[in-house]
Amino acid sequence: MDLDQLNETACAMVAPGKGILAADESTGTIGKRFVSIGLDNTPDNRRDWREMLFRTEMAMKEHVSGVILYDETIRQSAKDGTTLVQLIRNAGAIPGIKVDTGAKALAGAEGETVTEGLDGLRDRLADYYELGARFAKWRAVINIGQNGDDSVPSQYCINVNMHALARYAALCQEANIVPIVEPEVIMDGNHSIERCYEVTEFALKTLYRELFDQGVVLEGTILKPNMVISGTTADDRAGIEEVADMTVQCLANCVPAAVPGIAFLSGGQSDEEATAHLNAMNASYDLPWPLTFSYGRALQAAPLKAWAGKAENVAAGQAAFNHRARMNGLASLGEWDAAMEKETA
Ligand code: 13P
Repeated sequence: MDLDQLNETACAMVAPGKGILAADESTGTIGKRFVSIGLDNTPDNRRDWREMLFRTEMAMKEHVSGVILYDETIRQSAKDGTTLVQLIRNAGAIPGIKVDTGAKALAGAEGETVTEGLDGLRDRLADYYELGARFAKWRAVINIGQNGDDSVPSQYCINVNMHALARYAALCQEANIVPIVEPEVIMDGNHSIERCYEVTEFALKTLYRELFDQGVVLEGTILKPNMVISGTTADDRAGIEEVADMTVQCLANCVPAAVPGIAFLSGGQSDEEATAHLNAMNASYDLPWPLTFSYGRALQAAPLKAWAGKAENVAAGQAAFNHRARMNGLASLGEWDAAMEKETA
């Protein structure tokens, strides 16, 4: 393990004004996104979509530090034969790879999942390093029980998922790949922001205990958490300042200062909400770690709609991506303002 290299990569992933593009949708998930624009889920269409994003110069050079890829994408080439990995590198960004194989039903725990993918991971990581990946991602999924059911998440679910995250992280570091550790508390449901705080704290405390127990060096990791936020269908959803306050308070209580950076998932927030929340945290607090984005939907929804799968819309798709990337880049510095949303890229 080369800790200097790991730390250098981790710091570059959270460089000022930059964040991560999560483009690691599995074939099934990207298919669902394509349905919204009436596009067939073929390897060429998936390639064209991602090639368009990775060739978006301003977004990629100025606001994207790294891109999380899916197994198919890290092996794909652009129409002119350049590998997609090389396109990312040409923009000065770092290629990364999702290595978990998804959340599966957790035996004996109704409504809960455990993320799989540890079998053969050491060999897969060596392969991905050869293909150019310098960081990886593993997402644990934590559901919140609804209508007052506080048996979910169970201690069992939190324990097995955080244990697996730490095993993954240790294997990544052995392979000189920075692990993004992502314990995602799911936003769907009618739960309160207080309940989200409680569950997020429970997950993060357990995660850092497991990382310590398994010898993971925090200086060579990145945390990708959810924000502390009301459930999507909750009554009286908390406003921007409350989300920012409670998220910062939760992270300050759980995340050691040795962690080089925190990059949030968007988790189903609207584009502007995800930007406004990130901005509010950076504008109002002096924190031990940079806070930035590692968004999937909140970076891609607008360009996907503008592109709509048509070659003649590539410029419009890229303009939409430039805009969202710039808005989030500014939010990572606490310099975004809602009025800027009207500016064209
Ligand atoms: P969203 O920002 O769409 O939640 O995706 C980020 C991600 O990588 C989830 O694992």
